[in-house]
Amino acid sequence: MNQNKNLKTYKIKENVKLRNEQEMEYLSIKDKIIQLQVNTPDITIDETLIGRLSNDKDTDVKKILKKLKLDSEGYGKINDLLKDDQLEEIMIINDKNPVYVYHRREGMMITNITLNNNEIRQIIEKTANQVQRKIDKQTPLLDARLPDGSRINATIPPITPDGPTLTIRKFKKTPITIFDLIRTNTVSTHLAAFLWMIVEGMNAYSSNIIIAGGTGSGKTTTLNCICSFIPPYERVITIEDTLELQINHDHIIRCETRPPNIENKGEITMDMLLKNSLRQRPDKIIVGEVRSKEANTLFGALNTGHSGMGTLHSNSSHETITRLNNPPMNVPKIMINSIDFIIMQKRLYNNKK
Ligand SMILES: Nc1ncnc2c1ncn2[C@@H]1O[C@H](COP(=O)(O)OP(=O)(O)O)[C@@H](O)[C@H]1O
Ligand SMILES: [Mg+2]
Repeated sequence: MNQNKNLKTYKIKENVKLRNEQEMEYLSIKDKIIQLQVNTPDITIDETLIGRLSNDKDTDVKKILKKLKLDSEGYGKINDLLKDDQLEEIMIINDKNPVYVYHRREGMMITNITLNNNEIRQIIEKTANQVQRKIDKQTPLLDARLPDGSRINATIPPITPDGPTLTIRKFKKTPITIFDLIRTNTVSTHLAAFLWMIVEGMNAYSSNIIIAGGTGSGKTTTLNCICSFIPPYERVITIEDTLELQINHDHIIRCETRPPNIENKGEITMDMLLKNSLRQRPDKIIVGEVRSKEANTLFGALNTGHSGMGTLHSNSSHETITRLNNPPMNVPKIMINSIDFIIMQKRLYNNKK
């Protein structure tokens, strides 16, 4: 626990704070409402109803109503965290530690929120319901994308014996643009102009580009930024494991893979999507993250005159080529020539980043 003391605290104002005895009253009213809803699902929940259901004359019906709304519409205590676009990640590891957040400027922080196992389970169930999936002893992990684009990963015992966990990677509503990269000195104006030239292709030839680097080095962000240089008359097809790219382009088809179902059927892989995209007359194929068999298909396409861009996890340009040449990607050496540029990235930590 002491290690948490080294972290800054992200404080949220508690939305509705109930005294202990009010908390009991609140839970009893909530129970009664749930029972009522069985017979009359669209019952209006207002101050009068709460007044009728409460045992205590002094119950603060306004406060109870507000808390009921928060509990039913949102994600309870972590609601405010979900709304803050400055937070990259929200991490719940158990009921003993506070909820952690990763702040875009401040890095890892603790919050003034702690959840009990029940509350954690409730949030997990709620997110699972939203994507029509379930999490139970048989399938104790859940990886899914919420309708707002956020990515969630939840685990429950037995795979995390200490209790349920939840990791939410939030979708940034306002994506980083090339102008942001210039402003924060990630790229110079010269480099930005150069990238523009090679992506746009000056009506002659647009380059095939691999963006490589470690996890969190900003590969996807760079890809997203340089996609703004794709000329408007090009037909773009993107292929991703999880929709992450936010490309501002009218003529675009976005494809996303699908995991196999419980009977291990129905899987749609990157490679299948890529093969399909070649039948869709793409001008530009964009592969979110190249990591397996699809590499071979992609390079086949690049060698037959298609144009493409993608990211790849690796620590040097040399390693990028080695990884492409070897299993599971298996791109023949002779095909590697179709890459025009490898953009290598590294994440720099300057106390922040
Ligand atoms: N140049 C940058 N300056 C500051 N933050 C950045 C920069 N590029 C990316 N980020 C942030 O770093 C995080 C990881 O970036 P991402 O592009 O997803 O990395 P990768 O695809 O390499 O895993 C994101 O939250 C993103 O907003
Ligand atoms: Mg990425």
